[in-house]
Amino acid sequence: MVQLINAETPMDDARAILAENFDLKYSAAVKRTTAPIYERVKDKIAEVEWPFFAPLIVQINRLKKKKDAVILAHNYQTPQIYHGVADFVGDSLQLAIEATKVKQQVIVQCGVHFMAETSKILNPDKTVLIPDSRAGCSLASSITPEDVLAMRANYPGAPVVTYVNTSAAVKAVTDVCCTSSNALDIVNGVEGDEVIMIPDQFLAQNTAKKTKKKIITWAGACEVHETFTAADIEELRGAYPDAKIIAHPECPPDVIDAVDFSGSTAGMISWVKTERPAKVVMVTECSMSDNVASETTGVEFLRGCNICPHMKRINLENVLWSLHTMTEEVTVPDDIIGPARQSVERMIEMSSKGD
Ligand code: 13P
Ligand code: SF4
Repeated sequence: MVQLINAETPMDDARAILAENFDLKYSAAVKRTTAPIYERVKDKIAEVEWPFFAPLIVQINRLKKKKDAVILAHNYQTPQIYHGVADFVGDSLQLAIEATKVKQQVIVQCGVHFMAETSKILNPDKTVLIPDSRAGCSLASSITPEDVLAMRANYPGAPVVTYVNTSAAVKAVTDVCCTSSNALDIVNGVEGDEVIMIPDQFLAQNTAKKTKKKIITWAGACEVHETFTAADIEELRGAYPDAKIIAHPECPPDVIDAVDFSGSTAGMISWVKTERPAKVVMVTECSMSDNVASETTGVEFLRGCNICPHMKRINLENVLWSLHTMTEEVTVPDDIIGPARQSVERMIEMSSKGD
């Protein structure tokens, strides 16, 4: 069995294993090659840390070409992944759309497991790898296919709109998927006045406020966003009176009511790039503002964030090891992949109609 390097592997052990297989010296050539990348992350990564990251970045980018691989990374990945090795970055919808277009034979998903499953669903003939398969999501683990079937039985005829933050098996018993960037369009686009929208109760409640349709939901929540409160926003307003505050729609409705803008991770990034507030607080996962800061000079990013422990299971060490050993491969059973694909493709089709 192939040895795994994952979030439980002590860093010294991980680096010792990697050093047996790769040259991890911070040479003058490595410094020169990675200088443009360091320029982008220098405000977030201390100079003393760069000699540890830079050789890994060089090796990953080399191996990626050799293995005909592409790296898709979510906006919540660390700056060294986002700026150093990712070929495409984005929110869940952008990554799903990108996954339909990739030419390479191997996809390495730097994100959580449901994102890697979505890539596999859309690319059954490609190899999809996730550097640590235990990168889960509290929303995905909150609901099973049996739960969805029970809801269908309770609300016969109501279409099921499922957030992409779910397992492939749940997507397979769904009518259409949605993400935080297209939730309202999808809900408005499905037939009927009553819609089952699962599993995020807060995304559902936030969407319900903007649609005439009756929304039936589930008790799931994102462990990162559910902890933000309206009192936190008030406190942030007190501490930073001249800052704009923006939040992800996985936050509770009273938080969303109290902020200046809410949108998907990509929606928040584009809002900051368009509005260019002098100061902004992104009420979401902490890497977001770190990643976008280097792309938006003149905007001061203030802290008001939580860390997603699942997203942070992915690091440069296990990305390199994943490519080297071609682990951990994401598979979806044959009887699930077809119906799950229909739900995701229907979403992509409905989203592009709204453009
Ligand atoms: P986005 O689709 O907005 O990137 O959200 C994904 C996610 O997991 C947020 O917690
Ligand atoms: Fe899941 Fe929340 Fe982490 Fe996003 S931030 S992956 S919704 S636990």
